[in-house]
Amino acid sequence: MGPLQIKDILQTAPDNQSVVVKGWVRTKRESKNAIFIALNDGSTIHNIQAVAEPGQFSAELLLTVTTGACLKITGQLIASQGSGQTVEVKISDIEVYGTADPEQYPLQPKKHSLEFLREIAHLRPRTNTFGAILRIRHALAFAVHQYFNEKGFFYLHTPVITASDAEGAGEMFRVTTLDLNNLPRTDDGAINFKEDFFGREANLTVSGQLEGELGAMALSKIYTFGPTFRAENSNTTRHLAEFWMIEPEMAFFELKDNMDLAEDFVKKVITYALVNCKDDLSFLQNRLAEEEKNKPQNERSLPLLEKLAFVVDNPFERLTYTEAIDILLKSKPHKEGKFQFPVGWGIDLSSEHERYLVEKHFKKPVILTNYPREIKSFYMKLDDDGKTVRAMDVLFPGIGEIIGGSQREENYDKLLGRVKEIGIDPENLWWYLETRKFGTAPHSGFGLGFERLVQFVTGMGNIRDVIPFPRYPKSAEF
Ligand code: 4AD
Ligand code: MG
Repeated sequence: MGPLQIKDILQTAPDNQSVVVKGWVRTKRESKNAIFIALNDGSTIHNIQAVAEPGQFSAELLLTVTTGACLKITGQLIASQGSGQTVEVKISDIEVYGTADPEQYPLQPKKHSLEFLREIAHLRPRTNTFGAILRIRHALAFAVHQYFNEKGFFYLHTPVITASDAEGAGEMFRVTTLDLNNLPRTDDGAINFKEDFFGREANLTVSGQLEGELGAMALSKIYTFGPTFRAENSNTTRHLAEFWMIEPEMAFFELKDNMDLAEDFVKKVITYALVNCKDDLSFLQNRLAEEEKNKPQNERSLPLLEKLAFVVDNPFERLTYTEAIDILLKSKPHKEGKFQFPVGWGIDLSSEHERYLVEKHFKKPVILTNYPREIKSFYMKLDDDGKTVRAMDVLFPGIGEIIGGSQREENYDKLLGRVKEIGIDPENLWWYLETRKFGTAPHSGFGLGFERLVQFVTGMGNIRDVIPFPRYPKSAEF
């Protein structure tokens, strides 16, 4: 089953046993008495140290052992002579799988900016920072599946290609096999999509929710976890054109149940990372502290592990949109005209408003509910006052909106009314509407932006650094 991983070798009691380690050179250091090679295979943030004697290998071979080269080292596992590690490998043989010319290899053992690393996304997983992020990302994804499995949810695979822009969540990416240089036309000159692959217009999905609801009306509790696509031209540190979303959908859940689930869910997956990714989180915590060391004390953020523990240990603040607007109207920045955007009942909260509530006023995650119907999606259940809907957004410090969800409108006539009101042709949604005709039930769900969660847990400032190969305007290189 392949060689032992460095993570496991580092945990092994040294007994002069023979070992084989394979990995990439992080550093090579030569002293009078020894040659030290630090090797990493990505299984852990820690390198294994391999030691050779001067003269043991030819100068020619040693010249090819440079940062980035890939090696197979055979030797004996011994107790480390130096400090910083408990075991090391006494080298008997080195096989160079692949060299990395130091003149050309862009990753040298020094600090590289995140911007630069984005330009070499094919190599950045080999850095400590990205290794840590990718391992944490994996752990969080695993925790998501584990959580829902234990709670009796079924993983439903909703389609990536869809023919309905039902969500209205943003601009969609078109999917077509038509020849763009020779488009088929109808008699009146319009593009004839009947000749396209699906016989109709198709797009990449912006959300699996609508199909998720179909699943919940049969299996009771489902979740999706898949890629979603939004062609909004937003060049922010919180938006990607391709991101992964987790969308649970539950029959017989009302808004309160939905909030309870969302809060428990994020706390449990963050706890999983705290328990299972200690070394990587500590590394990122130190990295952040290093980044902030020039900031004045009162502007520095909590150490990463403390911040995560705080979120796990404290109840989220829950309040209605209307209450939030009142707080904003009474706030200092509003009174002093410091907000860029106006505050008033009916506005779509902008990120400065959300951040004020979360970071300044409550200083903890906040769940806002019962938004005005005009600024939320057609499928959200109308409140009795007819003005608000049973929406809920979970807002996180430093991130803003991390979860958006709602109780769904289960009444056929009300839902049809909303569909027409916002100008969707009910014909396009006949299958969705039918769930309200045949055995409708109260139900709820939400969507968690996976990269925003990874951003929060890793403390990374830019969402482009928490997905291996980010997609954003003018960028799809790798
Ligand atoms: O609030 P949104 O648009 O909600 C939905 O799509 C619903 N269908 C979810 C549901 O009820 N099943 O998106 C949900 C979350 C946001 O809170 C945010 O975390 C994330 O998805 N998100 C993005 N993440 C990265 N890049 C983008 N462009 C994102 N747009 C939304
Ligand atoms: Mg939203």
